[in-house]
Order: sequence, then C-alpha cells, then structure tokens
Amino acid sequence: MCGIIGVVGSSDTLDTLLEGLTRLEYRGYDSAGVALVRQGQTWRARTAEGTESVSALKEECKKAPRGFTSGIGHTRWATHGAPEAVNAHPHLDCSGHVAIIHNGIIENHAEIRAELEARGHLFSSRTDSEVLAHLVEEARGGGAELMEAVRVSLLTVRGAFAVAAMDATEPDVIVAARRISPLVVGTAPGVTYLASDIPAILDRATAFYAVNDDEIVRMGPEGFRAIDLEGAPVRLKQLTIDWDLETAEKGGFDDFMSKEIAEQPDAIRATLLDRRRKDGTITFDELRVSDDELRDVKRVVLVAAGTSHHAALVAKYAIERWARLGVDVDIASEYRYRDPIVEVGTLVIGVSQSGETIDTIQAAREARRRGARVVAISNIVDSSLARESDAVIYTRAGLEVSVASTKAFVAQVAALELLALRLAQLRQTLSPSDVDALFLGLSHVSAQVAQVLARGADVDDVAKQLLGARDFFFLGRHVGFPTALEGALKLKELSYLHAEGYPAGELKHGPLALIEPGVVVVAVATDPAMHEKLLSNLAEVKARGATVVAVATDDDEKIEAVADYVLRVPVTEPMFTPMIDIVPLQLFAYAMARGLGKNVDRPRNLAKTVTVE
Ligand code: F6R
Repeated sequence: MCGIIGVVGSSDTLDTLLEGLTRLEYRGYDSAGVALVRQGQTWRARTAEGTESVSALKEECKKAPRGFTSGIGHTRWATHGAPEAVNAHPHLDCSGHVAIIHNGIIENHAEIRAELEARGHLFSSRTDSEVLAHLVEEARGGGAELMEAVRVSLLTVRGAFAVAAMDATEPDVIVAARRISPLVVGTAPGVTYLASDIPAILDRATAFYAVNDDEIVRMGPEGFRAIDLEGAPVRLKQLTIDWDLETAEKGGFDDFMSKEIAEQPDAIRATLLDRRRKDGTITFDELRVSDDELRDVKRVVLVAAGTSHHAALVAKYAIERWARLGVDVDIASEYRYRDPIVEVGTLVIGVSQSGETIDTIQAAREARRRGARVVAISNIVDSSLARESDAVIYTRAGLEVSVASTKAFVAQVAALELLALRLAQLRQTLSPSDVDALFLGLSHVSAQVAQVLARGADVDDVAKQLLGARDFFFLGRHVGFPTALEGALKLKELSYLHAEGYPAGELKHGPLALIEPGVVVVAVATDPAMHEKLLSNLAEVKARGATVVAVATDDDEKIEAVADYVLRVPVTEPMFTPMIDIVPLQLFAYAMARGLGKNVDRPRNLAKTVTVE
C-alpha cells in the first residue's frame, strides 16, 4: 500500500512532493523517494529509514539542484524486495531518463524481468515495479511518445497498479495509469497533480478527477487528457471534494472504521495477488521456508490474540480439512506460560496485524526456543514478529488505523487459507483440480464482500430496532463459530454491550439458562451442512423469548421461520464464509456503536497495538 504523488508545471516542485509525502504518512511506509525530471536530466533521492524516511528524504533533498518544475514522489510499503533504499521508488530505466513510481503488485514481474534481462536490461532492485521502467524504455526506444509507451507497457502486465512515469527526453509530461490501486488527478492554473490519496494534494489542487481502472492520463502544465488501454479517448469524472484534511485522510468517510470496512474487497484482492503461478502452484514470494520443510510438517500450532486469534481459528478448519494436518490454536498469552510441547515437525504460525503484539511475539519466541519453525502472518512489513520469525507471509490490507480490526481479519483469513491450500498441494491431500477450484472460489470472495457492503442499509435498519438491547449471544457452527466470536468481539469493544460468542451446539450445556425475552441471539447460519442443526438451536432460543438475527444465504428459505431479522449474504464455499459473513456483523457493531454515541475509532480502554503483557 504505497503512496504516490506527482506534479508538473510547478514553481515549488520539491516542496509539493515532500509535503504530499508527509501527508501520506498516515498510510504507513518503510521508505520514500522523489525524482525530478527536466530536459536531459533526472535527479533522484531515496531513503529507507522506516518511519523516519520522509524526514531523511527532506534532508537529502536539500542537495537537489534548483529549477525543476516536474517530479514524482513515493512512500513505499514493501511487497517485493526488502525495505531498503535500492528498492525504494522512483525506479529508473537503463538510460536513467525514465523514472517511474508504482503502487500495487505486478503479478507476472518475474517472467517480464527474465525477458527484459535476456534482451540486455540491467536491473538495480528486487522490486516487481522496476519492470515498468524498462518496459517503458523499450517502447520509447521504438519511437513511441511517453503516453503510448506506457499504454503498450501496460498491455504486458498483470496485477494491480497506480503508476506514474516521466522521461527526461520528453520533459514536463507525466503519464499515469491505474488498475485497482487508487489514483486521482488534480488541477490548478498552470499546474497538474496526481496522487494515490487526495490528502497529498488537497491544499494545492482546486479541481479533482477520478481515474478509473485501465485509464491512462497524460499530464502537462496546461492540464491533462486521458485514454483507455485501447487508446480511445476517455473523460475523467470530476469529483466534488469539500473535505478538510482530516476528512480527506478518512477518504470522505465519517471515520477510519467505516473506511476500513469498505476497503475489505481490496484487502482480500491484494492479499491474493501474485500468489498462484501459471502452473497452479500457490506461492509466497516472501516465505523463506522450503517446500521440503513444509512437506515435513507434522503438526501446526497457531498463536495469536483478539481478532487475529479468530482468524487463526478459521485456519484450523481449513488446514485440517484440506491438508489433513492436526492443528491447535492457542491464545498467545496462554501458550507461552504453559510449558508447551514442541515436537519435531511442529510449525508454529504467529498471526498478528501489527506484528508488534507482545503476547504473540513472546509466544513465537518461546516456540522457536523450543525448536519450532515459526511463520509470521503480519500486515506490517518488517514488523518485530516478521523479523523474529523464520519466515513471513504478508497480508496486504494496508494501514489499519481504527482500533477495532476489520480489514486485517479478512486479509488474514485469505492468507491463512492460501497457506492451507499450499500445504494441501505439497501433501497431495487435494487434487490439482480441487485446489484450482478453491483458488477460483477464493478469488470471487472480494466481489461477494463488495455485494454485502452494498446491502449496508439493511443492517442499519436492524441495528435501529435493537438499540435498546443489552445482552447478545453470537452463535455459529463450524467456521461460523469463529465468525460468531469475532462478531461478538466487535460489538462489545465498540458499543460496550455484553456480547458472547458461542458454538451453537454448546448453548444447551449452560448458557441457555441466560436466554429470556430481551436477549438478542445473532446466528451465523450460512453453512449448509450445519443448517438443520443450527435451525433447531435457534428454535430453542426463540421458544425462550430471544430475538433472533440471522446471517443467512440468499437462497435460504427456511431461516425466516426462526429469525426475526435476516441479513442476507451471497452463497459461497463454506470455508470462505468468515470473510463474507463477518461483514454484516462488523456493520452491525458499527451501527450499534454509532447509535449509542460511541467513538468507533477509539473505543475506551483499548489500544491499537498492545505492547505490554
Ligand atoms: C480487536 C482487535 C484486537 C487485536 C489484537 C491483536 O478488534 O483489534 O483484538 O486483534 O490486539 O492485535 P494484532 O493482530 O496486531 O496482534
């Protein structure tokens, strides 16, 4: 989740770029860079100082020659290639004339790079992005103008991108394009801007325009024009922006939580990008555990806290079902202190959005001390957990600001299910066609989450009806159980209401005694195999006076008989349902908290990252 900015026609290019990069800091980053371009000359500075990168860049830029009117800047959130200065953007082509910045992931970068290297191109970074500089260089070499060179280059790449390119042999032009990753263009008299996020150019531009997928924009001081990938002219839609900086950082949403809930389709999509080779092999670039080691795993232990623990619980079902491996899931703070048994062949997976949760780090340390191989699932590149583990798989949810975790959860489930599929491939517990079908199903989840988000108003209506309720039980079976736990956690932490998650079958072993009129039972009822049993459980609570809210699939005709309110979701493979079913529950918790006047981004007593035991 990098941030990008560009300006052409400005009398204070560097200040514009550096201020914009500072404004993008809220997205989080590990390195930063700028390139200034004028006739025959490119000047570049890059730093990789973690959260100090932009400050260090400002120091470097004191050495910049004066008089550049165009440039591009970038804050990097590493995906391919370590967070080091050589991998920071902008990247240059072999001649040093073409400079590019890129946010996203080029899925087929390895093949493209091999072809370019075979044709003599010299690469200086380990990034996927650098291929774009060399592709543009080749097209320019064939005589194409920069806009055409970018268009032709993009025909070759698969994946996600917001990219901006400059060329010192065609100065005062920036060509930018997007697919999936965000990009806006801004204008002011005599100056044109581009940015991944509006805050970066909010106080400079006076008009803003949205770039859509597969559109290419040529910007000059006089303004811009746009084409599609076939070269046909397109008009960019002007945006009405009457935001202050704080609203802009929230992308126009009222708070970070609703922004992050809305970003979930992208979080899943980004986490899946680049994870499957042409031959069907599930692959993790950054995973430093060999296939042989993974094949030899005898037992898996997942350690995590809070929401990440719920994602880990989903992984237990997926790894056991698909890879036929025994899985234990431990609360990180419990694992460490109970003298855990680590036998040969134990793979420990530490799951943490921040990668800084002390309980999870300590559990991972303990596991390594006892001889386990430890894989981290982290949303923050180079987090402490990532650094201290033998290997890491990154979720690519982007910076999560709201204390209550939302998009990190769905990205964690996606990453863990991918790992489950990889283990199944290596252990040959699923056929290649089963893995292909499951991967395809996983690729559809992002669109299904978007569908559920579009039904948000239904959830608001239910929440309005239930604002007076004080006791909630969230029930589910199979992977509906961790989803119920996560739904209950969201409600309690945001609205301070009593909410418990339970396996539906366990209710009659005690908690049923608490069910009486006024209690709300929220059921995750989407698993067809468990449906009949769950309906019986709901009939039991209904008979005792509870109000029932059910998350049910679009094709479920029986649910209305036992539920007072039904929140509909599309049908999907049961193992993928937590990523979909959690969405109405997040929206429900959000609506209840807002209805009760609570601060959804900063619930009382809680911290985003818990670095004390
Ligand atoms: C709940 C929540 C927390 C975190 C937990 C672990 O909404 O955000 O329960 O999930 O503190 O944090 P990470 O994943 O950063 O280790």
